[in-house]
Amino acid sequence: MKTVLRVESLMKSYLIPSKSEDRLAVLKGISFQVEEGERLAIMGRSGGGKSTLLGCLSGLDHGDSGLVEVLGQDLAKMSATDLNRFRARSIGIIFQQFQLLDHFTAQENVRLPLDLAGRNPVEADALAREKLVRVGLGDRGDHFPEQLSRGECQRVAIARVLAMGCPLIFADEPTGSLDAKTGTAVMDLLFESAKEAKAAVVLVTHDPLLAKRCDRILYLAEGQLSHGAST
Ligand SMILES: Nc1ncnc2c1ncn2[C@@H]1O[C@H](COP(=O)(O)OP(=O)(O)O)[C@@H](O)[C@H]1O
Ligand SMILES: [Mg+2]
Repeated sequence: MKTVLRVESLMKSYLIPSKSEDRLAVLKGISFQVEEGERLAIMGRSGGGKSTLLGCLSGLDHGDSGLVEVLGQDLAKMSATDLNRFRARSIGIIFQQFQLLDHFTAQENVRLPLDLAGRNPVEADALAREKLVRVGLGDRGDHFPEQLSRGECQRVAIARVLAMGCPLIFADEPTGSLDAKTGTAVMDLLFESAKEAKAAVVLVTHDPLLAKRCDRILYLAEGQLSHGAST
């Protein structure tokens, strides 16, 4: 089994602006790993550090110490340029609020990262179209995010990640702003497509039903990850 993500003793704290010497310790030594194609749910109370953790794992942010290795590559050892390139190819992120560009159509939103990665324009266009069809939005490519429902916007965000073919997908409360039925449909789609692509999915959720659909659940509390719920 190939390990796609390895985390060792990851620590992260934030400066507290009012007290310049004090730091808020959010992650206090996190260690775990994720294998190819695995689905891992991370649960924990609001403010517990889940988004901070995903930020560090995806290279958008970095820890104070510890190791984050994606596909055998230590993120901290890469230059900013290499990290950006590597992230684009290897790590897909789905956010609760979709993070689509409002002035771009669905097709353009899916295509943009392909263009940034230097893909051939004709290929990029075809691939974006194919992935929109895959998420059931083949006829909505010309629509702007405001012309789409929240569930449809989340599908565009999924198509965008699928188009890049990343072996590791992070999702930060991906159903948090969707109703239960739409959330289930969107996650069905993400899980199916990730399985086809053998991509691993690490998701943060408050929803125990969604967490149960994963192979494994870890709980983040007091800056530590554990196998059992703390409440
Ligand atoms: N940039 C930041 N500067 C200072 N504190 C932060 C920053 N980002 C998050 N925090 C704090 O870190 C803690 C964890 O936040 P977060 O990772 O967003 O939690 P979760 O996603 O589990 O709700 C919270 O107490 C939050 O206020
Ligand atoms: Mg969060």
